[in-house]
Amino acid sequence: MAARRQLIAGNWKMNGLKADAGKLVGDLIQDVGKPGVVGCELLVCPPATLVSTVAGLLSGSAVVLGGQDCHAKASGAHTGDISAAMLRDAGATYAIVGHSERRTDHGESDGQVLAKAQAAQAAGLVAIVCIGETEAQYVAGQTLDVLARQIAGSVPASAKAATTVVAYEPVWAIGTGRTPTNDEIAAAHAHIRKELAKLTGEAAGIRLLYGGSVKPSNAAEILRLPDVDGALVGGASLNAADFAAIARACP
Ligand code: PGA
Repeated sequence: MAARRQLIAGNWKMNGLKADAGKLVGDLIQDVGKPGVVGCELLVCPPATLVSTVAGLLSGSAVVLGGQDCHAKASGAHTGDISAAMLRDAGATYAIVGHSERRTDHGESDGQVLAKAQAAQAAGLVAIVCIGETEAQYVAGQTLDVLARQIAGSVPASAKAATTVVAYEPVWAIGTGRTPTNDEIAAAHAHIRKELAKLTGEAAGIRLLYGGSVKPSNAAEILRLPDVDGALVGGASLNAADFAAIARACP
């Protein structure tokens, strides 16, 4: 099995105007974004209005670009939505799909997330499919069952290492400063790898990211856990020094 290169992905969520993006991306490139400075792959996912702008800012750097969501259809009468092909056209090579904030705020089902992942792949984007249990499910001891159900429902059976990344993001850990224990993260990732193998037949190369309150102080220990191939970072990705420190923590 080829070694999986770690991926540190920044999800800016609904944050950033042009001036903020210029400073954030400039500082990031200066710190860790030039080719060969860190061993991991670096990705930023700005809001849709900034994808083209950030594509220009990243030119010549080692940082790649993604969108935070895409529509399941290639085009059509879907006011306010953007397609995977539009993201690709604007310079993105990745798209996050099924983030818990989309699942909650927009009522996205596993089936819709699956369709979005397929649309992303059809447009030549790598889909980062997000899964994770709620706090109530965690407390009830249902985490592994929830993850199995979400994988079966929202990850394409055709997923390959080159087309798909899966992000484990416990909903209760997002933006809260709380994280599962290292043993819980490792157990969840091992389970995800096993379920992906059942679904796709080739899970070994598919990268699994942990997300939820990753910061410079916990990144090194999380990124060293077995089956953790990187991180999906929200809040800390809005600070260039913090995001760079997480990138440098990659083993
Ligand atoms: P957080 O968000 O790092 O702010 O917890 C993670 C995410 O939602 O991807």
